Amino acid sequence: MRKIAVLTSGGDAPGMNAGVRAVVRTAIYHGLEVVGIRRGYAGLLDGDVKPMPLESVGDIIQRGGTCLYTARCLEFLTEDGQRRGYERLTDLGVEGLIVFGGDGSFRGAQKLHQLGIKTIGVPSTIDNDIGACDANIGFDTAVQTAIDAIDKIRDTATSHERTYVIEVMGRSAGHIALAAGLAGGAESVLVPEVPYKLEDVVAKLQRGVARGKKHSIIVVAEGAGNGAEIGRYIEQHTGFDTRVTVLGHVQRGGAPSAADRVLASRLGAHAVELVMAGVSGHMAATKNGELTSVPFDEVFRAERKPSHAVYQLADILSI
Ligand code: ADP
Ligand code: F6P
Repeated sequence: MRKIAVLTSGGDAPGMNAGVRAVVRTAIYHGLEVVGIRRGYAGLLDGDVKPMPLESVGDIIQRGGTCLYTARCLEFLTEDGQRRGYERLTDLGVEGLIVFGGDGSFRGAQKLHQLGIKTIGVPSTIDNDIGACDANIGFDTAVQTAIDAIDKIRDTATSHERTYVIEVMGRSAGHIALAAGLAGGAESVLVPEVPYKLEDVVAKLQRGVARGKKHSIIVVAEGAGNGAEIGRYIEQHTGFDTRVTVLGHVQRGGAPSAADRVLASRLGAHAVELVMAGVSGHMAATKNGELTSVPFDEVFRAERKPSHAVYQLADILSI
């Protein structure tokens, strides 16, 4: 193998830059040439490709976002788009491809693997919904960002004796909500994986206030309900002064945490070693802290659900 390519796809995640840096530096260390494909599969189809010498990844380990840009590409969902992507790569002389992204990006990577490009995925999404591994790049940072915001909201919630509903990201998964809710000391955490009744949320709030609580925080995953509607319901059914904050894309930005930089560096380097060893159609992963690889088919079957024990703990600690 002489030449590999790297791209970032889907929603960006803090730590992607550290991962791209690890890919480029590991590949060059092993004597490979590396090209970067900008804007994910969209850039692949457009031929938006640049050489990646050592210095191209200098001073990015600490930056959020992705220096390669990212995109969602409808054309790549079609067989024709995938075939064109394959042809672009072979025309460039690329024999191996490293894809940073989430589930959708891995499905695209699987297609390129099936067409004959040696392809490795690196799990990168703040949603942390890619299973069969310890963690996804970006989750740790996103949770810290959410907690920083919750701590600040708690200050003003206390001063005004208010109830706050804080909606966090996660698409259809509740990982960010559960971790941020537990670490942020929320009164209730609503996640899509656990059915809930708003009457119960209200009853718990009222019990807390009856015991003397001055403020309350409810963390809701975007996949579990609309923060504004939940806030309206609570205000109507309790009369408590209630405000709603949607954290939104702030959770996707910012300098990656140390844990995300370490994970991205390890997985990026491992992805290069895998592709050089002829592995393809796999995700680079850590399991119990050890580097490994998992076939995409197994990744697609694996479902990562928030821990029920942690959910119960968050409930108990907020009585
Ligand atoms: P993520 O990787 O964060 O889950 P998306 O689901 O938006 O993000 O997927 C990113 C891109 O991956 C899509 O815009 C599309 O180009 C490609 N992709 C997604 N699903 C498939 C699929 N089933 N087959 C081929 N490509 C796909
Ligand atoms: O997958 C990452 C994520 O940030 C989700 O948590 C969120 O639902 C979605 O992407 C937002 O996507 P967009 O950037 O297209 O608004």
